[in-house]
Amino acid sequence: MGGGKVKDPIISLSINLFFMIIYVSCKSKKFKEAKMPKINRYVDIDSVERESKKDYIDRHSPFITCSSEAKMGEKFPVVVKVGNEYSHPDDFDHYIEGVQLYNGETLLAKADFVAGTLGGQDQKSNAEVVFHIVPTTKKLKLVAQAYCTKHGIWESDPVSVEVVS
Ligand SMILES: [Fe+2]
Repeated sequence: MGGGKVKDPIISLSINLFFMIIYVSCKSKKFKEAKMPKINRYVDIDSVERESKKDYIDRHSPFITCSSEAKMGEKFPVVVKVGNEYSHPDDFDHYIEGVQLYNGETLLAKADFVAGTLGGQDQKSNAEVVFHIVPTTKKLKLVAQAYCTKHGIWESDPVSVEVVS
């Protein structure tokens, strides 16, 4: 017990009780810590056995479709579609809220969705966006992320693009 220098036993007991209450309340209180969000990465669903797992991975994963070659300084279309063989719910408490496109670690563009845009409650669909970007570097390493309001961040495989002048 602390407070050994305090001679009055009532004061000493009060001090000890005070610290015990702080200790207990710190232990029991669940502090909301800001943690780096987990990023789920695409896994080839041909390597997955369980049908429900294939569906889960595919419907959350963003897929990039674009040409393998772009022209420097000219508009270049990049399609990002969430889900390839499977589609995701568009429920009001569970939907694909956004799609982001990166070049390496640099954010290029993002699009946000509102629940109900892709069919609404009890419907399924694929969020899809066409970004038009103008390359200014010799290579692009495109990576897309999708955000599900229930199942978090999902990242595509990277796609390399050669940029010619
Ligand atoms: Fe989800």
